[in-house]
Amino acid sequence: MSQTTQNAVEVHDVVKSFGHLRALDGISLSVRRGEIYGLLGPNGAGKTTLIRAIVGLARPDSGTVTVLGRRMPELAVLSRIGYMTQAAALYPDLSVEENVRFFATINGARDGVDDVLRFVDLYDRRRSVVSTLSGGMRTRASMACALVHQPELLLLDEPTVGVDPQLRAQLWDRFQQMAASGTTIIVSSHVMDEAERTQRLGLILFGKLLAEGSANDLRRRAGVDRLEDAFLKLSAQTPHAVGDDA
Ligand SMILES: Nc1ncnc2c1ncn2[C@@H]1O[C@H](COP(=O)(O)OP(=O)(O)OP(=O)(O)O)[C@@H](O)[C@H]1O
Ligand SMILES: [Mg+2]
Repeated sequence: MSQTTQNAVEVHDVVKSFGHLRALDGISLSVRRGEIYGLLGPNGAGKTTLIRAIVGLARPDSGTVTVLGRRMPELAVLSRIGYMTQAAALYPDLSVEENVRFFATINGARDGVDDVLRFVDLYDRRRSVVSTLSGGMRTRASMACALVHQPELLLLDEPTVGVDPQLRAQLWDRFQQMAASGTTIIVSSHVMDEAERTQRLGLILFGKLLAEGSANDLRRRAGVDRLEDAFLKLSAQTPHAVGDDA
């Protein structure tokens, strides 16, 4: 069996620049099917750009992205992917239910709307127009849109920002159940207790993969007890020079 069929995502030596800025600077990583892979890194590190390159929305200048065995970008793969953007992308004048139904329809799903609304705890508010929701409710509605077609690969860009701790814990339980049943999840986060719940973490800095491993691996490698300290220590060891291969 080739690597491509075992891995849900393979990113190989991807470079993406915006003008003079190298948002992705030769990044390579792979994510196994059914794995929860976390992307950690400071503001501007390149996490969102990487997620967009995986989905096929940002076309790399060089390098390749393969998703579910297909070289990206490929339109046909999109219905097998769920993407929750960092800023909730919803139609503000439509109700929660109408938004979710819209995303279900464009991805060829016929049912599951009620289930996903219950899952994000918005069933009682399903008739509310999105513009009247609280911030956390909007995040949850956005998650419902990403989940409704039961994607094989789920990309979540800081999914729990503004979500209360109780629902956050429930969501993570559900992500873990989904992964156990074969869904691959890539999630960016700044929240360390979330990072602990991933199977592997990639530390991203200046568009590069600085270190990769389980939270325990990273702590051990840095020789510290806290993941946050591991991240700071590993980041500090990295030369900041751009285009320096030495
Ligand atoms: N469309 C764009 N045009 C110009 N520059 C961009 C564009 N998208 C991203 N960038 C730049 O690329 C770099 C990486 O941005 P990116 O959004 O990927 O970071 P991030 O790791 O997701 O950060 P955050 O934690 O703040 O969400 C930043 O310097 C950003 O300004
Ligand atoms: Mg981002």
